[in-house]
Amino acid sequence: MNLIQATLSGDPVPRRPLWIMRQAGRVLPEYRALKEKYSFLELSRDPELAAEVTLLPFRHFDFDAAITFADIMSPLPALGVQLDFSPGPVLEKPIRSAADVAALPEPEELDPEQIAPEVAATQRIVAGELPAHRALLGFVGAPLTLAAYLIQGQGARDFPALRAFVYSEPEAFSELLRKLTGLTAKYAKSQFEAGAEAIQVFDSWAGLLEVADWRRHVRPHLLNLLDELGEAGVPRILFLHSAPQLVPSFLELPCEVLGVDWRTDLVELRAQRPDLCLQGNLDPALLLAPPDVVRRHTEAFLQRMPPRGHIVNLGHGLLPQTPLDSIHAFFETVRSEQLDGVRTA
Ligand code: CP3
Repeated sequence: MNLIQATLSGDPVPRRPLWIMRQAGRVLPEYRALKEKYSFLELSRDPELAAEVTLLPFRHFDFDAAITFADIMSPLPALGVQLDFSPGPVLEKPIRSAADVAALPEPEELDPEQIAPEVAATQRIVAGELPAHRALLGFVGAPLTLAAYLIQGQGARDFPALRAFVYSEPEAFSELLRKLTGLTAKYAKSQFEAGAEAIQVFDSWAGLLEVADWRRHVRPHLLNLLDELGEAGVPRILFLHSAPQLVPSFLELPCEVLGVDWRTDLVELRAQRPDLCLQGNLDPALLLAPPDVVRRHTEAFLQRMPPRGHIVNLGHGLLPQTPLDSIHAFFETVRSEQLDGVRTA
C-alpha cells in the first residue's frame, strides 16, 4: 500500500504524502526541451510521450503520486468539439446557444473507449512503470469548469460569456452541464479501470457564480458526478479553486479528499471535519520566494496542520516560473517530517 492509499484509508503513516499540481509540466527543463520539438497536443495525444512526461518529475523529486499528463479539455473531442492549445485551450466554435447545446451527443451514446483513449493508454504504460510506493492519479475537469471554457471559447478573467449564458439560457446551461457530467463520469471510470488509483475533479473555476445560482444550476450536476464515481468505487479528490464562498457547500459533497486553494485555512477545515482527508494548500507563489523563506513557511504550516488525513500539496498548480531550488526546499521540508507511524491527531 502506498502513502496516498494509507492516508485515504486512515491508516497510520510515517510521514504525510506529497505531490504537486502541475508537477509534470512547464517548471521542468526536460518538459521545456520536449516542447521545442512537440506541441502540447502532440505530447498529450501520444501515449508513449505522455507517459514519459508523467514520469519526468521523478527525475528530480520522489513525489508520492504521479498525475497523468493530459488536460481537463482532453475528453471534449468526443463531443465533437474541436480545440487547440495556445497555450491554454482555444475552441474553434464556442457554445453560445441552446441549439449548440442540443447538437452535442447524449452521454448514453458515447462509447467510453472513444473518450480520449490516449489517456487510458498513457495510464496503462505509467501503471506498469511506476514503483508500488507511488500512486497514479487521474483527473477530470468539473462540469462547470469545462463549461466555462466551452462557452467562453478560451480562458478569460471571470468568464463573462459563461455568466451571461447562465442568465439568458438557464435551461440550456443545465443541459450542457448534464451532458458534460455524463461524459466526465464515463471518462473518469475509464481512467480508474486503466490504473488510476484516485481521480481528482478539478473545479478550477468553481466560484464564478453567486451561491444561490451555484446551488440551483451547478450543484445537482456535480453531485451526480460524485455519486456516480462513488458508486463505481472510484476514490474522489474534489478540488476547488477561487471559490471561498463555496467551501462550506463543498464540505457537504461526497468525496474521499477535499482539496482547497491557499485562501482557505486548512487548519480550520480540519477542525470542522476531523473525519475527511484534506489536500493542500500552500500558496504556489510562496515557491517564488527564496528557499529559506519556503522552508520557514512550510515548517510553520506543517506544525499548525495535524498530520492525520493530510495530503500535502500547493493550493493550485506550480507557477511556470518556479525555480527548481524552491521546489526542492518545499519537498525536503515535507519529507523530513517523521511521524513514527503514530496518529498524532
Ligand atoms: O502536472 C501536470 O502538468 C499534469 C497535467 C495537466 C495539464 N493541465 C497539462 C497542461 C493538468 C492536471 C491540467 C489541468 C488543467 N488544464 C486545469 C485544471 C488545473 C488548473 O490549473 O486549474 C485547467 C484549468 C486547464 C486548462 C488549461 N490547459 C490552461 C488554462 C492552460 C494554459 C495555461 C497553463 O496553465 O498551462 C492549459 C495548457 C496546458 N495543460 C499546459 C500543460 C502542461 C501548457 C501547455 C504548454 O506547455 O504549452
